[in-house]
Amino acid sequence: MITIALSKGRILEESLPLLAHAGLSLAEDPDRSRKLIIETNRPDVRIVLVRASDAPTYVQYGAADIGVAGVDVLHEHGGEGLYQPVDLEIGRCRMMVAVPDDFDYEGALARRSRLRVATKYMRAAREHFGAKAVQVDLIKLYGSMELAPISGLSDVIVDLVSTGNTLRANRLRAVEEIMPISSRLIVNQAALKMKFNEVQPMITAFREAVNERREGAR
Ligand code: PRP
Repeated sequence: MITIALSKGRILEESLPLLAHAGLSLAEDPDRSRKLIIETNRPDVRIVLVRASDAPTYVQYGAADIGVAGVDVLHEHGGEGLYQPVDLEIGRCRMMVAVPDDFDYEGALARRSRLRVATKYMRAAREHFGAKAVQVDLIKLYGSMELAPISGLSDVIVDLVSTGNTLRANRLRAVEEIMPISSRLIVNQAALKMKFNEVQPMITAFREAVNERREGAR
């Protein structure tokens, strides 16, 4: 049995065409079901639906053999026990530092002010500001980061930016890019050895699907 960890939403939607290329389709629509384990057209392959931030953990411990996770989530997790053989080029966005439109970020840096930083991405934020030798108090949040600086909880946020609409709607502006984000195929290191004959063709199929889509987009 091969178990694939996916998260509902954008990753699942954008993974379906890649799964199709690997000859896999879901036996039911996850959006219409409360089930967390979804069968596929192949009796030896199943999907487990996880929170996006939990995908690396399921794969690391072998509860799933394969999964899809964003670089943002992988960076926080640390990547222990995982291979990341394919950049799936889905879920693309950027991890940015953002501030209220009227916040003098450049001035705050020049004055070497201590900054309150609200984020879901504690590790990335710690590393980013550490590398710049900026003193920060990190405030852990689980979502809606944009609310933090406009409600007075923090000075700045570290969050993902895609279209920039959420920043604009909340009168925030991006001031620094921390890293470009896309989703990776992740594979349990032990599963790659123990289930090589099943797992390796799947990795190849995903890689081919990404290449074909890229060719088609030209
Ligand atoms: C993400 C991110 C931003 C938003 C950016 O949030 O955290 O809030 O999308 O997209 P945009 O630049 O296109 O507006 P998501 O909806 O995934 O929810 P979250 O707050 O739980 O992270």
